[in-house]
Amino acid sequence: MLTGGLSRKQVLAELKKIRRLDQRYDGGMVLCSMCTKPHPTAEKAYRLFLSSNLGDPGLFPGSARIEKEVVGELATLLHGENCFGNVVSGGTEANLMALLAARNTANASAPEIVLPESAHFSFTKVCNVLKIKSVYVKLDSSFRVDPVQVVKSISENTIAIVGTAGTSELGVVDPIEELSRIALERKVWLHVDAAFGGLVIPFLDGDKPKFDFSLEAVKSMTVDPHKMGMAAIPAGGVLFRHQEALDCLKTETPYLTDRYQYTFVGTRTGAAAASAWAAFKSLGIEGYRKIVGKCMQNTQLIANGLVDASCSLVAQPSLNIVAFRSKGGTKRMSEKLRQKGWLISYVPRYDCIRIVVMPHVKKKHAEVFLKDVAGIEKL
Ligand SMILES: Cc1ncc(COP(=O)(O)O)c(C=O)c1O
Repeated sequence: MLTGGLSRKQVLAELKKIRRLDQRYDGGMVLCSMCTKPHPTAEKAYRLFLSSNLGDPGLFPGSARIEKEVVGELATLLHGENCFGNVVSGGTEANLMALLAARNTANASAPEIVLPESAHFSFTKVCNVLKIKSVYVKLDSSFRVDPVQVVKSISENTIAIVGTAGTSELGVVDPIEELSRIALERKVWLHVDAAFGGLVIPFLDGDKPKFDFSLEAVKSMTVDPHKMGMAAIPAGGVLFRHQEALDCLKTETPYLTDRYQYTFVGTRTGAAAASAWAAFKSLGIEGYRKIVGKCMQNTQLIANGLVDASCSLVAQPSLNIVAFRSKGGTKRMSEKLRQKGWLISYVPRYDCIRIVVMPHVKKKHAEVFLKDVAGIEKL
């Protein structure tokens, strides 16, 4: 029931009380999230566009322009200057749109996709909704998808191959260059889920794996500003190499200002796009390099400290994710860390603890965390 009758002061007081139940990124204890506190200007931008609706762009041409510019910035960053796309609600919707476009383009009667065992669980939802069969491929010893197995798994029903640039559990980058060669040879759509890595890899120092539109077979990409892009939720991104991909997603909108919508979600906020725009314009390439550089330094600090504390790393971190096991029992370690207030993930598939070293995790937090790990390991 809509009880109502509370004053503004009462409403806000009650909400503030309830909000205290939520975790805050500021304390540096949240080590299991791929989201972070948005850039301060991104927060302001969000408020500025709070009532805009990108589902009806004729009413909000300013917001539509912002979305176009955000897509343009992401595309340029990922070597796809002439790509098309949308700011969507997140990686799940982006993966959904990409595979919907792949399925509509292929027009197969019993569509299948070939994807790594490490692919994000959003593909389970996507395959369920789109009635696509998922053919999972084993990983090699470095937790990357095995290209030989990918080739073996392709059939006449395959509408797409999926690779991940920055897996959710270990931060591993699949051999996208090899997947691209396979996709070209077999004339099949290649989708790269760079929801996390898309706004990390371009800013890394030194050699970087090729993973984007610079590879000819990559037809679509997921890249989420609300993860390492410092934008406010819900800011995901889907990019397509060709306009035809978007064309086969279009739905007629008889009573709205524009004749077509291309996204799955209808009414959608322009605020998220504005927050991404604000983060991009505030930080620029140099700003993101600094942020990613700091995250990688803290990642290395944690990885080294864990080894010093006699823990073992599942893999050397390639992005800002560390996965480790404890000699005294990984499950036990994760429980003890949780008792100390650390919000970490235990990953049953690899029997490891996973830590995402986001921008809100500072050196001082890493040091306290390592002290706690060492203390537990000694017990
Ligand atoms: C690689 C990858 N893809 C897709 C997603 C889904 O993104 P979202 O939760 O924004 O829908 C995630 C989420 O963490 C992810 O890590």
